[in-house]
Amino acid sequence: MKFDTPAGNNPIDQLKVVGQPVDRIDGPLKTTGTAAYAYDRYDVVPNQAYGYVLGSAIAKGRILSMDLSAAKAAPGVITIVNAQNAGKLAKGDLNTAKLLGGPEIQHYHQAIAVVVAETFEQARAAAQLIRVDYARGKGSYDLAEVKNKASPADVFNSAGETAVGNFTGAFSSAPVQLDASYRTAHESHSMLEPHASVAAWDGDRLSLWTSNQMIAWAVSDMAKTLGISKEKIRVMSPYVGGGFGAKLFLRSDALMAALAARAAKRPVKVALQRALIPNNTVHRSATIQRVRIGAAKDGKITAIGHESWSGNLAGGGVEAGAVQTRALYAGANRMTSNRLAPLDLPEANAMRAPNEAPGLAVLEIAMDEMAEKLGLDPIEFRIRNDTQVVPDFPAKPGSSDPQSKKGEQKEKEAERPNPHPPFSKRQLVQCFQIGAQRFGWDKRSSSPGQVRDGRWLIGMGVASAFRDNLVTKSAARVRLDGRGGVTVETDMTDIGTGSYTIIAQTAAEMLGVPLNKVKVRLGDSSFPVSCGSGGQWGGNSSTSGVYAACMKLREAVAQKAGFSANDAVFADGQIRSGTQSVALAELAGARGIVAEDAIEFDKLNEQYQQSTFGAHFVEVGVDAVTGETRVRRMLAVCAAGRILNPKTARSQVIGAMTMGVGAALMEELAVDTRIGFFVNHDLAGYEVPVHADIPHQEVIFLDETDPISSPMKAKGVGELGICGIAAAVANAVYNATGVRVRDYPITLDKLIGKMPSAV
Ligand code: MOS
Repeated sequence: MKFDTPAGNNPIDQLKVVGQPVDRIDGPLKTTGTAAYAYDRYDVVPNQAYGYVLGSAIAKGRILSMDLSAAKAAPGVITIVNAQNAGKLAKGDLNTAKLLGGPEIQHYHQAIAVVVAETFEQARAAAQLIRVDYARGKGSYDLAEVKNKASPADVFNSAGETAVGNFTGAFSSAPVQLDASYRTAHESHSMLEPHASVAAWDGDRLSLWTSNQMIAWAVSDMAKTLGISKEKIRVMSPYVGGGFGAKLFLRSDALMAALAARAAKRPVKVALQRALIPNNTVHRSATIQRVRIGAAKDGKITAIGHESWSGNLAGGGVEAGAVQTRALYAGANRMTSNRLAPLDLPEANAMRAPNEAPGLAVLEIAMDEMAEKLGLDPIEFRIRNDTQVVPDFPAKPGSSDPQSKKGEQKEKEAERPNPHPPFSKRQLVQCFQIGAQRFGWDKRSSSPGQVRDGRWLIGMGVASAFRDNLVTKSAARVRLDGRGGVTVETDMTDIGTGSYTIIAQTAAEMLGVPLNKVKVRLGDSSFPVSCGSGGQWGGNSSTSGVYAACMKLREAVAQKAGFSANDAVFADGQIRSGTQSVALAELAGARGIVAEDAIEFDKLNEQYQQSTFGAHFVEVGVDAVTGETRVRRMLAVCAAGRILNPKTARSQVIGAMTMGVGAALMEELAVDTRIGFFVNHDLAGYEVPVHADIPHQEVIFLDETDPISSPMKAKGVGELGICGIAAAVANAVYNATGVRVRDYPITLDKLIGKMPSAV
């Protein structure tokens, strides 16, 4: 099904099942521990051995020699695989560094061997007996140091740099100006379930039970790496204990399990130990950003410029902090620049709301600073600069494909058919207005450091939330059986987001059956290829694929009943036309009826800018003596199309807000710039918020539908919630203390010397 005209009325609009706050259908499995995650799959193949991955102890250089003799002789050891004996391997398309390093080493903790043994403990003990001699090379590990070597880098769906009007002239002549620089930290995804895989070979066929967000990408990258055909590989990932982008691509657990199982001639399971994950896998790059805003005295922005620098291994992508600044606020003269510097730290890659999360963490502090310079309320300042069209260059449509990285480096206004496309729907102002009322914004003191509650200095902050709504092709197969049951199969994943539930709701609505008649099977490469989970495109695109398949099934059922598909009604397990009705179960019979289709997004995506919007409100208390910050209350108001399930959507937003509080106050991978690795590479040293850090959260969804986005009229919310929240915290800290911190995370050492006197 091609989606090329705005959605009209369709069966989803009944909202009997879709739009309801249905409990997760996989909830009981998760809460009783019976949902089997990759490392739990003892059931799938007998005789599993254990693999333990050894990471490189240098960040850059070469392995001179590796002595395996003591390790091989250790109890229980079956085999050891390294680059010397693994056979010929290619690098996959989607990862930047090789997943098995040696002799050349590209980053610290790059996998250099996997030890296979009868037990996990034996494999781990033997791995410590491997003796490696290295020749350490010289690398670059400090972003600030290599910033000047950066060059403009394309973002996956837009050019690296843009310029509209005359930014320099307009900025220098603006009566009110802000020019400030900021930093965001290297961050680790820190999802609960580690990267883990069970691999088994049957002749030349590989079965892989793993934890991965994008099944089809895992298959194609494994095929490329091993040099075998995709048809020989089956990947299964029905449950994923969080990914946040860390599991978008094949990682070393999967490849090392496959290589180990081939060498050991028996199934092998590999989980990356927590302390290996931050340096072995991926992280979000730190950024350095500079924002310049010029405005007239009435608060209208006349010039806005945003430059962002991040770092990565050669061939890696950019963390593009400046992208949202192209679309969020009005202003005739503009420039954005996303620059990438070479770093020899581990591979940087997508982490929840790549680009916008660190970009808004900065832009929205700058907006707060500018509002203060103008003497305007920060909400009023944003409202005065609202725009219903894209003032800068819009993102190129329809490319959630990370392989289509290469565009032109610089876009020119004249080359575009519609230089300023309208947003399909934009209710940013409404989000602020509703939120201000709900949160009690009028109680905020406009001058900072004024409100005390015992030892606490109290402050409030706001920020805009903004994130593109990507749409991408997604297929599904739907089967109606002789008992009136429906089975949906698609390789879509549920990474804790609620995919199982919203897909079941979609099929139930489309076919007029109760939810408990729908069985959803996900995360298997033998099913039709879906959009997968990433970039907050999963919810809308995958259910639209199920919609397309259900439409086809409705036609097949109507035809069998002798009804016209156009006026047939599906309700209560029956198909009805006029006064006639037939039970679906009867029509399906013993053989059942099967339909398969994909949704494909087309031109609408070019004519309109699709984005999701929100407003974050945060109240903090800062201890007047110690400088410790505690979040007291948070509210997010979101405008993101139809909300398919308010319960799962809310969970997405509060989870993202929590992650944003981490970025604001705690999270930072500390770099040892002499050796080139992340020092705090476990959950003891890398701090994330816990329940006690998040006492109160509220989410409001505006009642919105967006017929431009899909037949579901929905959009993504999984990443919207993390966008802007860090700045709302930072602005609240400023409002509480009068101390402006431009360097995340806002730890007490950055506050304490500058706080107002505690006595
Ligand atoms: Mo998301 S960072 O694309 O999983």
